[in-house]
Amino acid sequence: MRKLTYFIACSIDGFIGDPDGDASSMYAFVDEEFFAFLTTEYPETLPTHGRRPLGLDDLPNKRFDTIVQGRASYDVALREGITSPYAHMRQYVASRTLKTSPDPDVEIIAEDVVGRVRALKAEDGDLGVYLCGGSQLAGELLDEIDELVIKTYPQVYGSGMPMFGSGFAITDFTLESVRTFKNGALVRTYARKR
Ligand SMILES: NC(=O)c1ccc[n+]([C@@H]2O[C@H](COP(=O)([O-])OP(=O)(O)OC[C@H]3O[C@@H](n4cnc5c(N)ncnc54)[C@H](OP(=O)(O)O)[C@@H]3O)[C@@H](O)[C@H]2O)c1
Repeated sequence: MRKLTYFIACSIDGFIGDPDGDASSMYAFVDEEFFAFLTTEYPETLPTHGRRPLGLDDLPNKRFDTIVQGRASYDVALREGITSPYAHMRQYVASRTLKTSPDPDVEIIAEDVVGRVRALKAEDGDLGVYLCGGSQLAGELLDEIDELVIKTYPQVYGSGMPMFGSGFAITDFTLESVRTFKNGALVRTYARKR
């Protein structure tokens, strides 16, 4: 069974962006030390158009070979004219409104997103499935999430887009590791308690 990992950037108070999902205030914390962590530990989470100019195109995937994201998250790339933002992985976008995929490398999941993700998890393979977000899709897939990797930046948002767009329900996780950075960022990894 492959893991579904929600790998996400958030504020201290658990918001993944402003009310519209914009998390650009967090970019400032991706300094030399943090970037080295990302390229070493999670190179595949850097989008293709970010890797290419830095000469990092050939970095092999370390944790994930498949990415799942909601249409609103995919829209962030589409608005920049990028139709295949994670060309180094198999890409799935959940959407009921995108009738045809803008790119042959991106498969649209229009129905039974939970069932499709379960099927991806059931595939053989050493690498897992990267749940990129956003809030709504993560809320729908919460029961399927096996691991959380939360990049927390030292900012309070007060309100904004929550990590999970779902109703109140307690789901338990076990803390596996914490990594701290000089700039105050931290990355916590949690395993799902089942
Ligand atoms: N901080 C971070 O690390 C991070 C990471 C990722 C994203 N984000 C931010 O998150 C924001 C987007 O989050 P969001 O919660 O608004 O949206 P989202 O979860 O990315 O996408 C929601 C859309 O996904 C589709 N969808 C959801 N459930 C579905 C289902 N069961 N079946 C089929 N399609 C389904 C629907 O698309 P249709 O409307 O097309 O049907 C829905 O409107 C963006 O602003 C992005 O910047 C932040």
